[in-house]
Formats: sequence, structure tokens, C-alpha cells
Amino acid sequence: MIRIILIGFMGAGKTTVGKALASELGVTFYDLDWYITMRYRKSVTEIFAERGEEGFRDLERRMLHEVAEFENVVVSCGGGTPCFFDNMDYLNAQADTVYLKAEPSVLAMHLKMGKGKRPLLEGKTHEELEDYVREMLEKREPYYSKAKYALDVSLLDNFTKIQESVRLIREMLHV
Ligand code: S3P
Repeated sequence: MIRIILIGFMGAGKTTVGKALASELGVTFYDLDWYITMRYRKSVTEIFAERGEEGFRDLERRMLHEVAEFENVVVSCGGGTPCFFDNMDYLNAQADTVYLKAEPSVLAMHLKMGKGKRPLLEGKTHEELEDYVREMLEKREPYYSKAKYALDVSLLDNFTKIQESVRLIREMLHV
């Protein structure tokens, strides 16, 4: 049975790599944010606006407990998922967890394009974004580093990043 869960900061490529990995392995892909959006029929931004971050984290935890029970799946979590409650220990008990690691400058670069869609990044300028990523990553690293496996995607060439990440994850996990 395959159950692989990808974690890491916003902009690390969890969704892109997760989709490609699931497709190669012939299993179903779930993105936790997408699953939450489907179940609640609201965007993550709307949920943050209505319930605040605390409300979102409660609901995220509940949804995580549904998705992480599925068999033959690749799941990508939200960047904050492992850092609340006992989520990281739960993930490790349920699955092969993989931390997609990247330098703050790389993450900030990826996020510059899509920052409008992420409530935690709203209203941040170019410079503020990289500082925020650096600061947040430092706080989150202790949670992320509990993953069973880690893959540094910072140094991978942009054109082959996705295929290379999939290949390296398959090699590490023997799947
Ligand atoms: C968050 C990351 C987002 C989403 C929410 C909060 C975070 O997911 O869950 O906006 O706290 O890092 P992605 O990592 O998929 O952007």
C-alpha cells in the first residue's frame, strides 16, 4: 500500500511534485487545501476570513485525519499543516513523509507569482516576503525536519525539477 505525504513551506512545489509522483505511481493525488475547499465549498482565503487562522487550523486538522486514512495516495499538505497540534507525529504514524526543502530565496521567488492566493502573504511587498519566509521557515523547520525523508529542491535545475524530484523520491522510498 502506498501512502506518501509531502510537506514543506509554501512555494516548495508540493502540489506540482505530488501530482507528478502520483501519476507515475498510478495512485490518486490529494492536495489538502483542495480537499478542504471541496468539503467546505469555500476557498482557504474565505475560511481564514470567516474563522481566522485558528478556525482554519482546526478544520485543517480534521480534514487531514480523513485524507491520511486513504490508501494508495500521494497527499500534499498545506505549508502550516505539520506545525500545529500533533499533526507531524500523526503524519509520521500514517505515512511515508517527505519534506521538500528549499532555500528562503527560492521559496520567495516561487511565491512572488502566486502570493495573492495565500492569505498569510497578502499585502506583503517584494522585500517583506523574503524576510517573512526566512523568519517563518526558521520557526517551522523543527517540525518539517521530523519527516522521515527530506529532499532539497533548491539546487535542482528548474527545467528538470519536477521529474528529478519524482525520480529522487522514488529512489529514496523504493517505490
Ligand atoms: C499555509 C499554506 C497554504 C494554505 C494556507 C496556510 C501556511 O498551503 O494551507 O494558506 O500556513 O503555510 P500551501 O503550502 O499549499 O500554499
